[in-house]
Amino acid sequence: MATIREADEHDLRAIISLWNGLIAYHCGLDGRFWERAADGDEKIRLWMMEAIEKADRLLLVADQEGVAVAFLHGIVRNSPTPMAPRLSGYITDVVVSEERAHQRIGTALVAAAERWFSDQGAEDVTMTVAVHNQRGKAFWRKNGFEPWTETMHKRLKVGTSS
Ligand SMILES: CC(C)(COP(=O)(O)OP(=O)(O)OC[C@H]1O[C@@H](n2cnc3c(N)ncnc32)[C@H](O)[C@@H]1OP(=O)(O)O)[C@@H](O)C(=O)NCCC(=O)NCCS
Repeated sequence: MATIREADEHDLRAIISLWNGLIAYHCGLDGRFWERAADGDEKIRLWMMEAIEKADRLLLVADQEGVAVAFLHGIVRNSPTPMAPRLSGYITDVVVSEERAHQRIGTALVAAAERWFSDQGAEDVTMTVAVHNQRGKAFWRKNGFEPWTETMHKRLKVGTSS
């Protein structure tokens, strides 16, 4: 079984590879998904470095014999200014390598993130799942999450107003 621990710089290569798998998986599910930037590896490396350094971020990996086979990135953040103050956890990404899928590693990562968010004073936790990601939706429901908001999407023609 994998060990859940906080990530360090040595995990960045594995995290970038997992992140590329996550993007490819989502592009395969839905052509509307954002295209990966040409310098996506560098951008995600910088973002994950920030997560290692900043106190309001969480970067966890599932370590199997020294190799990160899954990761979770989360942020603890305040409610929008006009709303009553409330800290919430927000999971931006969680991905498990296909070779290790369905072995409860994702569940272990989410449980560890929930403990961390709670320790930071967060009262709830949210995340966004793609509408066509049936596996992801089953995963979140199994972990006690329920739909809360819906994101609406409409394609625009760029620069047609002038
Ligand atoms: C979604 C994901 C993180 C789940 O991680 P995992 O370690 O494979 O999931 P777990 O083993 O903890 O599974 C927990 C529950 O999720 C659901 N689940 C997991 N894999 C599933 C699959 N292939 N099909 C249907 N349901 C599935 C089941 O309800 C499962 O409970 P069960 O074991 O009693 O059947 C992983 O499959 C993944 O990385 N998917 C691609 C990236 C992605 O979609 N990330 C989430 C973005 S929102």
